This record gives sequence, structure tokens and C-alpha cells, in this order.
Amino acid sequence: MKKYISSRFQGVEGGLFTKVTKADVGDSFASMEGEVVLMGWADPFYPDPSVPENVKNALIGSVESGFASHYTMPIGSLELRTEIAEKCRAYNRLEVDPRRNIIITPGSDSGLFYAMSIFLNEGDEVLVPDPSYPSNFLNPKLLGGVTVPVPLNAADHYQLDMDAFESAVTERTKMVLLTHPNNPTGTVFRRSGLEALARFVIKHDLILVVDQAFEDIVFDGIAFITPASLPGMWERTVTVCSISKGMGLSGLRVGYIVACDQFMDTYYGGAVNVLGATNTASQIAAIEAFRNPGFMKSYQEHYDRRRRDAYRILGAVPGVKMELPESAFYCWIDVSALGDSTDITDYLIRSAGVAVNDGKNYGAQGAGCLRIINGCLGSDDASEQVLIRIADALRRYPTQNM
Ligand SMILES: Cc1ncc(COP(=O)(O)O)c(C=O)c1O
Repeated sequence: MKKYISSRFQGVEGGLFTKVTKADVGDSFASMEGEVVLMGWADPFYPDPSVPENVKNALIGSVESGFASHYTMPIGSLELRTEIAEKCRAYNRLEVDPRRNIIITPGSDSGLFYAMSIFLNEGDEVLVPDPSYPSNFLNPKLLGGVTVPVPLNAADHYQLDMDAFESAVTERTKMVLLTHPNNPTGTVFRRSGLEALARFVIKHDLILVVDQAFEDIVFDGIAFITPASLPGMWERTVTVCSISKGMGLSGLRVGYIVACDQFMDTYYGGAVNVLGATNTASQIAAIEAFRNPGFMKSYQEHYDRRRRDAYRILGAVPGVKMELPESAFYCWIDVSALGDSTDITDYLIRSAGVAVNDGKNYGAQGAGCLRIINGCLGSDDASEQVLIRIADALRRYPTQNM
């Protein structure tokens, strides 16, 4: 029956007929639950309970008021868009009109796909820094485009390399797709690199789609720059955000797109067909989270401790190279001196009872690396214990290379 599937989706396999251990694919990963600790989903405190009290009350209130059974506008609640506009002003340095520049999406994964979908024609090329979020490599293809990986290098701390971008650009290039801060490396792109990227995008008349799912979690006082706020970029940048990471509310499935009037006109026009509307109870809870985000401070303290634990524990393993993460709640470790990253991922499941992510899922540049979600589990101590288990197993890994 597969012959009926369109050429764009032909290569997509979800694990029904193939054995996959890759984290971002549903059942095959989840089926390991109970047998191993899952440290492969970027879901804060997973699988332990973690709804902040005020958000919980808002969720309950949405049901008690009886409003949860109704639709909001397909583009999302105006109250929520108004809160988001305030965050855009205060955090992202974007002056946006909540009635014209924001659309609510059921999470940012679907938001990203929708964000890109209005631009790509058959054969359009999309420049994707490598390594980056796996969806970035697949989405252009699903939309009829062509993914063109642009290497980032560990030696440059995975910052943007404009020579590599210039080498990759062609007549067919339409878009740059950036995850900032980057997943899996945790890199926060610096102002100088983003300004150079902005010049590149303008010079080649491109669109920039930026996934800022992790924008709230940036350490060490590093300035977080929103590319859409750079001169000349508002009109050609689409920004996609989420409440899943910094707010740790991934199960609510709320994301949003921020863009100029002209692009948003199209997003609003297609909202019913593509998005329907985002869950009403979740939007009500999200309004509360934006109004009273005090809980995020304690989350950041947990994330900060965990990245330090990971750096101390995993960084001390002979043959492992890593940097202290600049953002997020995962770490990116280079295990190439020990062996092949796929073999090591399988080995960790068997000998440490922990499922982490093989770096190969994040692009060719990810080979030899692992992504480990140190933000999983409710307790910092429990997470530390699992990191120690991983480190002990890596020390025992029967490497031929060292
Ligand atoms: C970089 C990045 N973008 C987007 C998403 C999607 O998040 P959500 O759909 O929960 O907003 C994820 C989830 O892991 C992610 O890591």
C-alpha cells in the first residue's frame, strides 16, 4: 500500500515496520519505558509530575467554568496573544500587535511546519545548520523543498560559519532554518554571527525561519538576540516559540508564530484548514503561565544545576569531550574517541539502562556524539545518579580506539 503515499512522504518511517530507537519517534522509544530511564525526550522533568500550582488552578478553572469545551478563535485566544506580545516586547525586543503579528499553534513542531509551508515551492532549497533539530532536515522535504545542510564545527563552538553558508547558497535557495539556541548543541548564537547571517539573508533575498523553543533557558548572562529584531530582518523573519521548554509545559501543546503583517495574513487565512484551533484549556493555562511566570526561576535553577552535574560527571570520563552547555537542559558529548555513537547508544540501553540520543539523528556533523537530556526526572539527585550510571558505563565501554 505504500506506493500510494506521495513522493514527499515516501521516505518517512515511524517505526511500525522498522526497528528504531531514535528518541523523536513515538512508540519504539516509549515502549522501553519501565525497562530503562528515558533521557532522550526534551521534556522537562519527564516522566514525573510537574505542573506549577498556578497553572494547575487555571487548568482546573477552565473546566469548572465550562469554557474548556469551546473553541477559541482558530488563530488563538486574544488574551493569550496579548500576553505573548508583552513578552515579545520585553524579552525579544519586538514591538508586535497581538491582533496582527501572532498566531497560536498546537505546539511549536506544528508551528514550525506551518511557518515554513507558506514559502516553499517544489525544489526550493533550505539551508539548515548541521547539527540541528531532526525536524529541520525532514520538514523542507515534506514541503517539496530540498534540505541543504550547512556544517557547524565543534572547534568553533558550533557558532555560525558564514563561509559555509556562502558555499551552500544557490539560485534555488529560499530559506535559512535556524534553531536558536541550537538543539542538540545548546549553542546560543552570538550577536556578531546573527548580524552576519542577517546580512547574508538580505543579500541573497531569503526568508529566515527561527525556532526559539529554548529561548528562555540561557545561562551565564549570555545575551539572547532575537534575529527578527535585527535591522532589516522583521520583514523577512518568522519566529516560532513554545511553552514546552522554559515553562516546562510540553503536554499542554501550545506554541506560537510571530511574523510581519503580510506573512501573518496568510497564516491567519489558512488557520482553520491547517491548525483548527489550539486546545482551549491549554490556552487558558498558558495565559496564567505568561502572567505569573515565577515558577520559571526555580526551573532555571534546576536546569543550571543539572548542566553543571552533567559537565562534572560526564566530562571527567576519559575519551569524552564536552563543553558546559550554554542553554537548555541537555548536554552534547563527543564520544568518538570511544567508538561509534550508534553502538554506544545501544550499549547504554543494555548496560546502563538509559536511553539517550545518537548524535547521527541531528545531521552528519552529529556522528560520534550523544545528546543526553539531563532535564528528565523530577529530582536533581535522581538525574545525577543516572548521569553517574552513564559515566560508569562509558568508563567500562570496550573501546578499540584508545
Ligand atoms: C528545538 C525544538 N523545537 C521545537 C520543538 C517542539 O516543541 P513543542 O512542539 O513541544 O513546542 C522541540 C521539541 O523537542 C525542539 O527541541
